[in-house]
Amino acid sequence: MLEASEAGNTRPGDRTNSQAPEAPNPAAVVVLAAGEGRRMRSAAPKVLHEIAGRALLGHAVHAAAALAPEHLVVVAGHGRDQVREYLSELAVELSRSALLAIQHEQRGTGHAVACALDSLPAISGPVMVTYGDVPLLDSGTLRGLLTEHAAAGNAITVLTAELADPTGYGRVLRGTGELAGTVTGIVEQRDGTPEQLAIQEINSGVYVFEADVLRDGLAQLSPANAQGEQYLTDVVGLAHTAGRRVGALRCSDPWLVSGVNDRLQLAEIGAELNRRLLAGWMRSGVTVIDPATTWVDVGVRLEPDVVLHPGVQLHGATTVCGGAQVGPDSTLTDCWIGPGARVVRTHGNGAEIGAGASVGPFAYLRPGARLGPDGKIGTFVEVKNAEIGQGSKVPHLTYVGDATIGEYSNIGASSVFVNYDGVTKHRTVVGSYAKTGSDNTFVAPVTVGDGAYTGAGAVIRQDVPPGALAISAGEQRVIDNWVPRRRPGTPAALAAERAAAVELDGAPDQVRPTDPGDTVGTPTAPHGGSTVG
Ligand code: UD1
Ligand code: CA
Repeated sequence: MLEASEAGNTRPGDRTNSQAPEAPNPAAVVVLAAGEGRRMRSAAPKVLHEIAGRALLGHAVHAAAALAPEHLVVVAGHGRDQVREYLSELAVELSRSALLAIQHEQRGTGHAVACALDSLPAISGPVMVTYGDVPLLDSGTLRGLLTEHAAAGNAITVLTAELADPTGYGRVLRGTGELAGTVTGIVEQRDGTPEQLAIQEINSGVYVFEADVLRDGLAQLSPANAQGEQYLTDVVGLAHTAGRRVGALRCSDPWLVSGVNDRLQLAEIGAELNRRLLAGWMRSGVTVIDPATTWVDVGVRLEPDVVLHPGVQLHGATTVCGGAQVGPDSTLTDCWIGPGARVVRTHGNGAEIGAGASVGPFAYLRPGARLGPDGKIGTFVEVKNAEIGQGSKVPHLTYVGDATIGEYSNIGASSVFVNYDGVTKHRTVVGSYAKTGSDNTFVAPVTVGDGAYTGAGAVIRQDVPPGALAISAGEQRVIDNWVPRRRPGTPAALAAERAAAVELDGAPDQVRPTDPGDTVGTPTAPHGGSTVG
């Protein structure tokens, strides 16, 4: 989205990059992130606020690292300890570390860059400066700026943008006559004359400097301006005055250079990044039914023919494989969803769902939940640290914690895997082709063998051998006419009396509705329905 020059209006300071050589790797990229970000009104430093699952600073450092600079420096001040901690996490993610330079007092952008250079050995060649709070700026744009800088043979190249409302930004001053198009200086909002403030081309705050020009310029900065700060922007005017060539690259997409100053901008830029991420996935073959209610983090991976229904949030390193459908109304973090699986109204974290498996509605998947191919985790089921094998089903109202369930087993409705004795967690093992009754309690550690059955309401405290039936519920006792005698006059007692009267009248026996096809759980057990049929 870059225009080094506008068609038919080539300026000496501007060049197209069509015949440009490959951009060299920069000697250094300096990411400025020392500001307090007061307008965020936050205990956390501004640059650690996240969009699309990554801190603002993370977006900036990722883009910088992609240029493979010799040195990568982050300048921090406010919240430096939190920034340091975050940078060490990022180093793992990027397999390269960024140097942290501390700016103890925020004395301006020029002073911040000087702090960065002070932390480095003597360097030469291009030095790029970017901001930690400009998250949409991508490595392609930065590379374009480096390429333009090299191709034009500039001492400084400024990334600029044309804004309908440039208020607040530094304005880019261009030369006239012989110097038409070259950049002669940058003037800040608070220091500009009315004519200068009418200029709509703004300084994005991203530049490439030749190291020697930068060093010379920084040494000459003074805080004699409206904000009493050492302005990095003054290096531009100083270089021009010293006869060095300053060019610009215009960015035609203002979003790329938009910074976050408050939570409103955090939400706006976050939404724009999400739109762009979704657009990319749709172009690569993912159906997003309702982009307005679908959110994906930068680390998410989606394969062609995935369908995302409305109200889906995919976070962290979630992967959804081809043909799988997620949603509506599901939030998955660091999950793996296999090909063709279906996940409906589910909250999941750290779970793996096999190919063709089905989850939800209203399932809660916790870390270590692993469902095999064609398996089922059904309605109001919570699963944690449990492996459920191929074709096995946990269809209804159940907690499965710390368990291994083999293949093609069925867990009856409303069961609890009792994993915690108050001190230690224990495991339950259920074999393959087992059928456990409804309302079972598995008191771990305990094992139910292959092909075993358990009765309804069983409390399984001892291992069940393969092929056995375990029943632990007591015999049913019936005390006739207890309700009319002990609860006389209640609606229940009256109903019982009416029923008795009908029986005495010799009315034909009412046929009791039975509908085994639509009841819960396991098939009728051999001892006459102690499981729910
Ligand atoms: C700066 C530019 C302005 C440009 C604008 C783009 C200067 C003097 N002005 O203005 O021309 O249009 O960015 O957004 O550079 N920072 C430090 N240490 C400091 C001061 C700032 O690390 O002492 C960091 C901030 O955390 C921030 C960035 O530098 O990430 C920009 O600082 P800010 O004060 O917001 O500069 P602007 O006034 O916006
Ligand atoms: Ca700013």
